[in-house]
Amino acid sequence: MQEQREDLHRRHGNNLYPVEFEVQFGDHELVLDVPGGVWNPTPHGVHLGTMLMGMDFSGEHVLELGTGCGIHAILLGQRNAARLTLTEIERSVLDNALHNLSKHDIDVPIDTTVADWTAVEGGPFDTLVTNPPFAKSGKRYRRYFIDTLILDAHKLVKPGGRLIFVQSSMADVPRSLRLMHENGMNVTIVGETDGPFRDYYFEDETYLREMAEIPGAYAMRDGVHYERLIVFEARL
Ligand SMILES: C[S@@+](CC[C@H](N)C(=O)[O-])C[C@H]1O[C@@H](n2cnc3c(N)ncnc32)[C@H](O)[C@@H]1O
Repeated sequence: MQEQREDLHRRHGNNLYPVEFEVQFGDHELVLDVPGGVWNPTPHGVHLGTMLMGMDFSGEHVLELGTGCGIHAILLGQRNAARLTLTEIERSVLDNALHNLSKHDIDVPIDTTVADWTAVEGGPFDTLVTNPPFAKSGKRYRRYFIDTLILDAHKLVKPGGRLIFVQSSMADVPRSLRLMHENGMNVTIVGETDGPFRDYYFEDETYLREMAEIPGAYAMRDGVHYERLIVFEARL
């Protein structure tokens, strides 16, 4: 099955193909329906989910930017968030997230908004959670979504609230840490893991060359490229 998925992946050159995605967080399993056009969770999203499982969101109004199939929104609901606001660039993606939330019996109030990244109304929120686009950000400046997230967090999150996000070492960890510190945030690294490159990295020569310019972007062991995945919790 995995081989079939990777094959489809290679043919279409993107990360958007229909699948039933089963993911295990310890003994906790989610079975998500991910139709074509909705982002298939990658190890980045799974790592963020694993870290969310160890956190508590009791009583909080949580904003998730770019919710995709709703993988994190489900965990936030299960970790006692009082209200969720979910954004995406297309209504159909939000409809799929709502389907997966209902499939997992999440019954907290949920607001959905079609909005461009941080152009969201309705805050300020207690916590902002996201897995920002990077490798496939579609921007010449790939860090666009990470940088605007950090720079605009004060517009969306209450003072004392939290910004929680995942990024790869490929997206320059020291740069994110510096930017968060420059913006007065107290940063904790919640958890780190590593894993082999996604197939689609090798389809983009420009991406690979850019990554070779970032110190610490990746490591090679036995001829395999590995990236690190880091979840930050920044307190405003
Ligand atoms: C890396 S994916 C993460 C999806 C999901 N949270 C996960 O981890 O599986 C980034 C998501 O952001 C959405 N996105 C891309 N550009 C956006 C924008 N300008 N505003 C809001 N969301 C955007 C994409 O549609 C995609 O679902």
